Amino acid sequence: MNDAFAQLKVAFVRELPAINAAIQAEIDALHPLVRPVAAHVMDAGGKRLRPMLTILFARALNFRGDDLHTLASSLEFLHSATLMHDDILDNADLRRGKPAAHTLFGLTPTILAGDVLLALANEIVARTGNPPLTACISQAIMQTASGEIMEIAAVRNAGITRAEYIEIITGKTAYLIQSACEFGVIAAGASERLRSAARSFGLNLGIAFQLVDDALDYTSGTDTSGKPLGGDLREGKFTLPLLLYLESLPDEERQATIRELTDADLNPARQDRIIAEIASKGFADQTRDAAKSYLALASQALDVLPVCLEKNLLRAMVDFVLTRDK
Ligand code: IPE
Ligand code: IPE
Ligand code: MG
Ligand code: MG
Repeated sequence: MNDAFAQLKVAFVRELPAINAAIQAEIDALHPLVRPVAAHVMDAGGKRLRPMLTILFARALNFRGDDLHTLASSLEFLHSATLMHDDILDNADLRRGKPAAHTLFGLTPTILAGDVLLALANEIVARTGNPPLTACISQAIMQTASGEIMEIAAVRNAGITRAEYIEIITGKTAYLIQSACEFGVIAAGASERLRSAARSFGLNLGIAFQLVDDALDYTSGTDTSGKPLGGDLREGKFTLPLLLYLESLPDEERQATIRELTDADLNPARQDRIIAEIASKGFADQTRDAAKSYLALASQALDVLPVCLEKNLLRAMVDFVLTRDK
């Protein structure tokens, strides 16, 4: 582990209590019927990547206001709301190593508690009285939901192109990470040039983050990731590891495999074999490699930041995204 990476770990350990305290204060003020659902999701853990990005950008640019952790927590509420809804859409029963909220509390309370957290995220931002922040989070919500709807429309579509796949992951994941970075710059009142650098950093980091997530889906089991192994294939998602695997097959075998995969009732043992083959033949590793070009762009975008500790930590974040196993 290099020095910057070790420093990033220290920074996470140092900031997490304040981020979690800000989150807890907001949860305590929720309606008693919403609180247990929200607390279940927020207390289950989560890396807190998005608030950390806001904090690092704000500090790099000499943020002078109060309550940075509360502002940063808004995007964690938004992110967690999208996860509650996502697990319903994906029929996933495990999240952050715990039963997904809808399996414990039911569909309707989980959908509505997700809506409350989404609105809470907006309300926290509105308290700042800073309209560019409101515009930024609103766009993140629209883009995330649009990415999710694009992905649902492409379920069991083996004909999806690489460009369409990138468009989906940019929508569902990268824009929110972009907004987390942009939030720090707007809150610090820094220049348009820095804001555009933060956008470029966040967007490229976000695309890479989801590419690595799609690789981990084939390699990282429940104990590490807190999510089921092979979930994407079972959900009918043609993510990059699967697309690369299909491309590698001879024509006839490819057509036969596509026919199997587009059948929602494919038996689980056969699914397991395909999942294991994708990992063992290196298609998850190739997907992680595909993240590198986006990470190079992210790193480049940091060049305009002033020399400071946080700039080094943001560079370490690039290494973290490439090498993470959860
Ligand atoms: C999960 O995000 C959803 C994706 C965008 C891949 P994270 O991997 O940041 O999830 P938590 O917050 O750490 O649980
Ligand atoms: C993550 O989508 C993006 C959003 C929740 C908006 P996924 O469905 O790929 O993420 P996981 O695997 O459930 O975390
Ligand atoms: Mg999902
Ligand atoms: Mg999903």
